[in-house]
Amino acid sequence: MKIQLAACLFLLIGEILTPAPKPAPRINGPLVYGSRPGHPFLYRIPCQGERPISFSVKGLPIELKLDASSGIISGTTPSKGEYQVVIEAKNPKGKDKRNFRIISGEKLALTPPMGYNHWYAHYNRITGRMMREAADVMISSGMADVGYQYVNIDDCWMNAPKNRDPKRVGPLRDAVGNIIPNSYFQDMKGLTDYIHAKGLKAGIYTSPGPLTCGGFAGAWQHEEQDARQFSSWGFDFLKYDWCSYGERENSVEAFQKPYIQMGTILKNMDRDIVFNLCQYGMGEVWKWGGEVGGNCWRTADDLGYELDRIFDVALKNCEYRLYSKPGEWNDPDYIQIGWIGSADRQAIPELTPMPAAMQYAYMSLWSLMAAPLIYSGDMSKLDEFTINVLCNPEVIEVNQDPLGECALVVKKTDKCFLMIKNLADGSRAVGLFNRGNSSAKVQVDWSELKLTEKQIVRDLWRQKDLGEFSGQFSAEVPSQGVVMVRINNKN
Ligand code: GLA
Repeated sequence: MKIQLAACLFLLIGEILTPAPKPAPRINGPLVYGSRPGHPFLYRIPCQGERPISFSVKGLPIELKLDASSGIISGTTPSKGEYQVVIEAKNPKGKDKRNFRIISGEKLALTPPMGYNHWYAHYNRITGRMMREAADVMISSGMADVGYQYVNIDDCWMNAPKNRDPKRVGPLRDAVGNIIPNSYFQDMKGLTDYIHAKGLKAGIYTSPGPLTCGGFAGAWQHEEQDARQFSSWGFDFLKYDWCSYGERENSVEAFQKPYIQMGTILKNMDRDIVFNLCQYGMGEVWKWGGEVGGNCWRTADDLGYELDRIFDVALKNCEYRLYSKPGEWNDPDYIQIGWIGSADRQAIPELTPMPAAMQYAYMSLWSLMAAPLIYSGDMSKLDEFTINVLCNPEVIEVNQDPLGECALVVKKTDKCFLMIKNLADGSRAVGLFNRGNSSAKVQVDWSELKLTEKQIVRDLWRQKDLGEFSGQFSAEVPSQGVVMVRINNKN
C-alpha cells in the first residue's frame, strides 16, 4: 500500500532530483559581479545551510560594508577596478569559503540576471502586496540562497485609459507629467525599500509607445522623466517593451531608436539599472542589443503557454550563441513551471501539466544557454518539486559561469541532441536531451569535446560523480528529458 502511494505521488509530482541542502553553509551565486563606480551597491551573498550563518569578507573595499548575519553587502561601489575578495560563511555545522570578484566599471549583469517576474502568473491582477510577498518567498523558499535576486514587476502597475478593473483606471500622469501608478501600487518607494531591505533588487516595466502591451500608460514622450522616476523610486532593472511604438516591419535604425534613447538615459542615471530589451528579436537585436546599452534581449516572441515549444525555442536561441557574453545575454523568455496562468490573460494560475522530465530539461536548456533565469509563476504556491527544479546550485553554476558562453548544439536528430558549454575552469557542461516519446540512449564522444584523456563525469541534477570514462559517456535519457553532466579531467 505504502509503495503504491509512493508510486502514485511520484507520477503526480515527479521525482525530486536535487539533493536537499546540507546543514553546513554552501556559498552559491556568481563568482563575478559588476557595478558602476559611485553608485549604490547591494549584494546579498547567496548561501545555503542552517541559519544563523555568520558571514565575513576578506579584502572588502572600504566603501562597502557587510552585515555579518544577513550576508548583505551594501555601500557605494568603489572606484573603477577589480576587487578580489574572499567570502566566508560559518555555522556550528561547518564553513565554506569562496573567491568573489567585484568589477567596478561600466558593465552590469556580468552573469545572467536571476530573479522573478510576475507576468505568467498574475498578468493584470498584480498588486504591490503580491510583489512584497514574492520577495518574502524568494527568501523563505531558499531561491535567494542559490542566486535569485531580482523581484520584477511586469506590465499593469500603471493606470490604463480603460480596463475591466476600475481600480486600474485613472489619470495616466499628474499635472507635471509624472507617471501615476494605479491604486494597487500606492507606495513604489516603500516597495523597493522593502525588497532592498532583504538584500534583493527591484525591477519595473514600461514600453516606449504611448501604451504598453496590456494597454497601460507607456513612456512615450516622457522617457527621461519616467526613467528618473524609476531611479528615484529605487528600481534596479528595467524591462522595455515595444508595444504601440511602431510597426514590426521596419529598418534596423527604427528598431534601435527607442533603445538607444533609453540606453543612454539609463547610463547617465546615478544608480545601476539593468536594461532588458523586450522587442521579440526584431531587427536581429542580438547583433546590436549590447551596443545600445542592453544587458539582455528577447530573441523571439512570447514563449506564452505553448510550453511544448521549449526545445524549438531553445534550439533557435542557440543559433545566436556567439552574441552571448558577460553583460549581454540572449533571452528566450521566462521559466514557467509550478503554478502558472495560461495565455488567456484572465486565467488564474494552475499547476503546470508539463511532465517532470521536461521541467528538468527546461531548466537545463536555460542554464546551458546562459539565459536569464527569471522564474515566472505563482510564488505563493511554490511547491517542493518546483523548488527542486529551480534551485539546484550545480545546475545554476553552469548558467552563472563567468565565461558567459551559450552552449553549442551538436549531434542533432529528430529526437535527440547534445548541448555543450565550455566553463571557465576548463570543464564542460553537457546536456544530453531526448525530445522523443520514449526514453533513448544518448551519447557524447570525447572527440566532440576535443578531449582525449579519461574524464570524470558528474551528474549535475543528482550532484553525484558517475565515475571515470574513456572516450565517451552515454546515458538513458527519459522521454522529453535530459541528463546534464559536467565533464572534467581533474579530481
Ligand atoms: C509583451 C511581453 C511580455 C509581457 C507583456 C506585458 O507581450 O513580451 O513579456 O511583458 O508584453 O503586457
